[in-house]
Amino acid sequence: MNVVLVTGASSGFGEAICRKLIADGYKVIGSARRLDKLTSLAAELGTNFLPLQLDVTQKDAVDNLLLGLPQGFKDIDILINNAGLALGMEVAYEANYDDWETMVHTNIIGLMHLTRVILPSMVERNFGYIINLGSTAGNYPYRGGNVYGATKAFVKQFSANLRTDLFGKKIRVTNIEPGLCGGTEFSNVRFHGDKNQADAVYQNVDFITANDIANTISWLVDTPAHFNVNSLEIMPVAQVPAGLAVSKEIK
Ligand SMILES: NC(=O)c1ccc[n+]([C@@H]2O[C@H](COP(=O)([O-])OP(=O)(O)OC[C@H]3O[C@@H](n4cnc5c(N)ncnc54)[C@H](OP(=O)(O)O)[C@@H]3O)[C@@H](O)[C@H]2O)c1
Repeated sequence: MNVVLVTGASSGFGEAICRKLIADGYKVIGSARRLDKLTSLAAELGTNFLPLQLDVTQKDAVDNLLLGLPQGFKDIDILINNAGLALGMEVAYEANYDDWETMVHTNIIGLMHLTRVILPSMVERNFGYIINLGSTAGNYPYRGGNVYGATKAFVKQFSANLRTDLFGKKIRVTNIEPGLCGGTEFSNVRFHGDKNQADAVYQNVDFITANDIANTISWLVDTPAHFNVNSLEIMPVAQVPAGLAVSKEIK
């Protein structure tokens, strides 16, 4: 039975991915900072689900991750680097610098930590799959996306470079690039708990859901071992990339 590690399992995509992969018959380690959420999920998902409190920005904790895993969960076959966040949507010259640093530490450095710790054992066994959660924000700029978009551009390029480093090995890498997805905590986190601002993002839009992403991952991990989806950009029908703008203000 394959073992999957899903980061950011306490809400949104991560939680839905854990539910789906447990239903598909995998053993799943679900990690996040909020242990209470993971414990509730464990009560629902049973003994094939292992809740793990882990802050991906804490290098020492990530370095020791494998040591603390019980038998039956030690050999991670599939790593889903999902933990991540956007903070703020101010333009670059007004943004909160601490928010910028938190996004870099979580979306870039956290993902690097996890990958560097798990990948060697995949290489040793010549078997594995890493799925990263990028974003359309890494492909197309939008006003206020500044550092968030840049972190996801890192995830895109890092995924492509991982593929290249893994040339000749039976290890797969995919970058999933979702557009507007609702029903997660993403916008609540982004707008620092301002529910009205968060709700407005999804008003009157038929958005993608966490279950859509979980079903996509369920399909990806079920594809044959010779088959690699390098990147997968997913948007709701209601969203298109329409970025070019012309200002009539500049004289
Ligand atoms: N929703 C969207 O529209 C959208 C679109 C494209 C890409 N994405 C990406 O998809 C991923 C999941 O987003 P989501 O919508 O499911 O958001 P979400 O509901 O806010 O979930 C984010 C998860 O990341 C975890 N997390 C945050 N900081 C962490 C840290 N330092 N250490 C460990 N875990 C941490 C959170 O858990 P704790 O707080 O318990 O630690 C939570 O479980 C993110 O990488 C996001 O950038 C989302």
